[in-house]
Amino acid sequence: MIDQQNFSNELLQWFHDQRGHIAVPGRGSSDPYAIWIAEIMLQQTQVATVSPYYQHWMDSYPSIAALAQASLDQVLKSWEGLGYYSRARNLHRGAQYIMEMHGGSLPASLKDLIKIPGIGPYTAAAIASIAFGQAVPLIDGNVLRVFTRLERNFDDITRTGTRKYISARLEQLVPKHDPAGFNQGLMDLGRVICTPRKPKCESCPLINICQAGLAGDPEHFPVRPKKETIPHYQVVVGLIQREEKILIQKRPVKGLLGGLWEFPGGKIEPGESGEDALLREIQEETGLKVTLGIKIGTIQHAYTHFKITLTAWFCHWEAGEAETRAASENRWITRSEIKNHAFPRANLKILDLLSE
Ligand code: ADE
Repeated sequence: MIDQQNFSNELLQWFHDQRGHIAVPGRGSSDPYAIWIAEIMLQQTQVATVSPYYQHWMDSYPSIAALAQASLDQVLKSWEGLGYYSRARNLHRGAQYIMEMHGGSLPASLKDLIKIPGIGPYTAAAIASIAFGQAVPLIDGNVLRVFTRLERNFDDITRTGTRKYISARLEQLVPKHDPAGFNQGLMDLGRVICTPRKPKCESCPLINICQAGLAGDPEHFPVRPKKETIPHYQVVVGLIQREEKILIQKRPVKGLLGGLWEFPGGKIEPGESGEDALLREIQEETGLKVTLGIKIGTIQHAYTHFKITLTAWFCHWEAGEAETRAASENRWITRSEIKNHAFPRANLKILDLLSE
């Protein structure tokens, strides 16, 4: 467990020592409006990019009233180049909302702040703590990184439970006498020292209490789930025609896409052509002798756990009776009976090609 006193004292000391060295838009202002603008601009954009925009914005719209009265066209023009334009539209709407609901001044409570267009939990907490001195924690990417390293916390940060835990811990740690310094200190530390790669632990004010820093493995944190590389299969299927009917096979109930009906076929092996793969698969799965007919087409589909490129051909039955091998059941059906059977999405896309 982190020693509360030690942690916030060291952090605040560092934050206040850095004053003058670290320039962040909005820093030093006590105007809640200025802090709101800076925090919105900083959310998806780097400090260096934001700085000139912030200056220009504050000159163009020095107050909430000025912003509310500006035209949306003009506001969007001021935002040009910053990206994520919904932020600009929300600021404009937000200013009008504040004129109407709060007489032109930002409210101080989290509850009221969060109702303003474009203000989410992060921005509400930033305004409440930085502009109004309330002891509320805030979480952004920098804070998550710093904190999980401090505790050497192996929990998956994409889980809500983990975020709730970190928020609760920070709530205990944020000092009543300087929540603005504490929150901004954490963010500055994350941006300047506790960087994602090659953190500058030797210059970190918290090195003596940082569990990952002491263990020498800060880059392992925060922990995110490994991106699964989802497999992509190349599959071929045949609509085998025998008189007026086509053959469908039911997949075993247990397993992938269990219990659904599909056209016979399977995966293309390395080096194999689609046509060869189809004849081989039909022979293996049904025992039927068929000839290839015309190609119906190719579709792409992404299931939750794999992707598939599926190509279908018409095939003509020549000889044999269909056997159930990998399948749990075979059925010869007419076109009108297709709708009575449940097919995986990729097979339905093939049927869509047929009806086009
Ligand atoms: N990133 C976003 N807002 C910030 C702030 N107020 N201080 C430091 N880094 C930030």
